[in-house]
Amino acid sequence: MENNEHIYAIFGASGDLTKRKLVPAIYSLFIQNLLPSKYALLGLSRTKFNDEQFREKMKEAINKYQESDDLSKVDEFISHIYYLPFDSEHPDEYKILKEKLKTLRDEKEINGNTIYYLSTPPELYSIIPKNLAKAGLNNEKDGWKRIVIEKPFGTDLESAIKLRDELLEDWQEEQIFRIDHYLGKETVQNLLVTRFSNGIFEPLWNRNYIHHIEITSAESIGVEKRGGYYETSGALKDMVQNHLLHIVGMAAMEPPSSLDANSIRNEVLKVFQSLRPIKKENVKNCTIRGQYLASNIKGEHIPGYREEEDVDKNSETETYAAIKFYIDNWRWGGVPFYIRTGKRLPTRVTEVVIHFKSTPHFLFANNDITDESNLLVIRIQPDEGILMKIGMKTPGNGYEVKNVNMDFHYSDLNGVRIPSAYERLINDTIKGDPTLFARSEEVLEAWKFLQPVIEAWKNDEVPLFGYPAGTWGPEHADDLIEGKHLTWRYPCKNLSNDGIYCEL
Ligand code: BG6
Repeated sequence: MENNEHIYAIFGASGDLTKRKLVPAIYSLFIQNLLPSKYALLGLSRTKFNDEQFREKMKEAINKYQESDDLSKVDEFISHIYYLPFDSEHPDEYKILKEKLKTLRDEKEINGNTIYYLSTPPELYSIIPKNLAKAGLNNEKDGWKRIVIEKPFGTDLESAIKLRDELLEDWQEEQIFRIDHYLGKETVQNLLVTRFSNGIFEPLWNRNYIHHIEITSAESIGVEKRGGYYETSGALKDMVQNHLLHIVGMAAMEPPSSLDANSIRNEVLKVFQSLRPIKKENVKNCTIRGQYLASNIKGEHIPGYREEEDVDKNSETETYAAIKFYIDNWRWGGVPFYIRTGKRLPTRVTEVVIHFKSTPHFLFANNDITDESNLLVIRIQPDEGILMKIGMKTPGNGYEVKNVNMDFHYSDLNGVRIPSAYERLINDTIKGDPTLFARSEEVLEAWKFLQPVIEAWKNDEVPLFGYPAGTWGPEHADDLIEGKHLTWRYPCKNLSNDGIYCEL
């Protein structure tokens, strides 16, 4: 078994991600005895903390953000935390880092295994790895070295290729762990288990029985304090290029030959490679973009996107994106996929909805069976579980058919805790298991697929619709779904918003 002792160095350690997600997740691993006995956590960022001050900050963060109630070992945990004030843009500082790592290793008798987690703005993704390499900190003679970065991996195809090339100048692909935190979600992984461990689903999981697939990832929050970042991103790059396409990959892939990282990732890559390219002139027919407008929800004024902090008053950035597309392969030929995501929608929900074809001839009159039957809903969050909607006979005379639910909620499994995505992914970086991380080919394929959309939206070839905060996005998105009376499971219309959608 691989020796997992290590130092976990976090760049950008005074930032939000470190305190909200990373350190609480590492603490969670600690209380489950999933950390090796020899380890240290080193925080690096510009702020001038000493070890004690940083430990106190992390203690507060754990108390506030850790999901489990077990806080009994916080003091023991933080005694493994160290801090170095650090300017990552200065190559000279890396000599100091090298010294610090050496001192820590000697003191704690840890070998050279090191993880560098870049919880930093993406502009530093090429600078830090380059500087680490110049200082010899990528050298694996004394133990493995891994880099962890989180999306966005570039902002379009060209910049993503550049980033890949820069990273690969000094690092091997196997050393780079690209986090897409959706892949760390239990329920995204459960897609594989649902599909490949149940003989009842797999025979139906194809163009012969499935009419279309719908994936929604809705958020009720707005951009919060992240207006500055979001202005450079928008829903397409923030959610679709990575999280949503990875869910598509898991829902549509062929069975892998085994559960090893390459087998699974090869199958996801094949799905991405089979995405039917969207022609430039077609973008306006198969995509919808929107931006939330101010509204009143239960008496509370909800600001529009353009009123948010650090957002341009005339911003054209989309906070909602919906796309229809096809996967051109034997399994999915002709089956439309619809994906959508948005901020300030009515609720937080991420789900995959498999719409099965209806029976060839419907025998029963007087029924309320609509497009809502014949569905399998895989709820990714927040109420994790799986729901099947089927038609059943109403007791009594005749054959009245009703839609009923067969519904499984993870929360019904008493005593089962769903670990956070970061917990799973950080543990995998320590174990060196790349299965749930994006490979560079996948990232590039996803950008390649979306490039025509990025360009058409940038050139204003597709209208940007306003939608009132708290609604299901621009009502035009309802018509994206092909077929009479068909629409999203949660449609935009019938919300008595007539007339308030406008082109911005
Ligand atoms: C992040 C996006 O990657 O995912 C955010 O940058 C978004 O804008 C978040 O809010 C959603 O993640 P989750 O796990 O809350 O669905």
